[in-house]
Amino acid sequence: MSDDHYFSADPRVAFERVPVEATVWGRPLRLMSGSGVFAQGRVDIGTSVLFRETDPPAPGRILDLGCGWGVIGLAIAVAVPDATVTAVDVNERAVLLANENAAALGVADRYVAVTPDAAPAASYDEIWSNPPIRIGKQALHELLLTWLGRLTPEGRAVMVVGKNLGGDSLQRWLGEQGYPTTRLASAKGFRVLESRRP
Ligand SMILES: C[S@@+](CC[C@H](N)C(=O)[O-])C[C@H]1O[C@@H](n2cnc3c(N)ncnc32)[C@H](O)[C@@H]1O
Repeated sequence: MSDDHYFSADPRVAFERVPVEATVWGRPLRLMSGSGVFAQGRVDIGTSVLFRETDPPAPGRILDLGCGWGVIGLAIAVAVPDATVTAVDVNERAVLLANENAAALGVADRYVAVTPDAAPAASYDEIWSNPPIRIGKQALHELLLTWLGRLTPEGRAVMVVGKNLGGDSLQRWLGEQGYPTTRLASAKGFRVLESRRP
């Protein structure tokens, strides 16, 4: 399966769990990735940049948008004991792995992964994401407007986007949509962006 199609679990590809070990914000995590899910057997470079260039969020309601096998939201749940994390992904294998990982890490009481149609109607203090750029600009824009609209008035979104995948134009576009967006960091060809409600 090519990475271009990671967002739709292909039932023709056998489902194999592949372990990943990572240290995020100083905490070692043992997780399972899987075939047919983004970043099989590794933490994505963009996601690593996101971790390296940020501190964990303040306690609150957190959304991990496009969670894959769960590393971002799970790292938050482990690092921030008073955080409650909702993670969404269209890939059902990703959702399964993320929930299994939450149980293995002992954070399942504060973490749930769901497909978008099953997400609770909730507001979020923070949205964290390595967003699915490859779904195309229009779909990405619709996705971001849908979920950024769920931020609380003081809320913020933290995203990592490749510069060559349109990180700078996305930053401008978010500002034009009424979400002032600053660049928190730039490393290894990735931009870490922070968007706030106006
Ligand atoms: C770049 S990957 C990031 C995965 C994971 N957060 C990480 O850092 O490794 C983006 C994820 O978004 C998911 N995705 C694609 N379209 C989506 C949509 N409409 N709603 C939610 N998630 C979506 C993909 O299945 C994929 O797992």
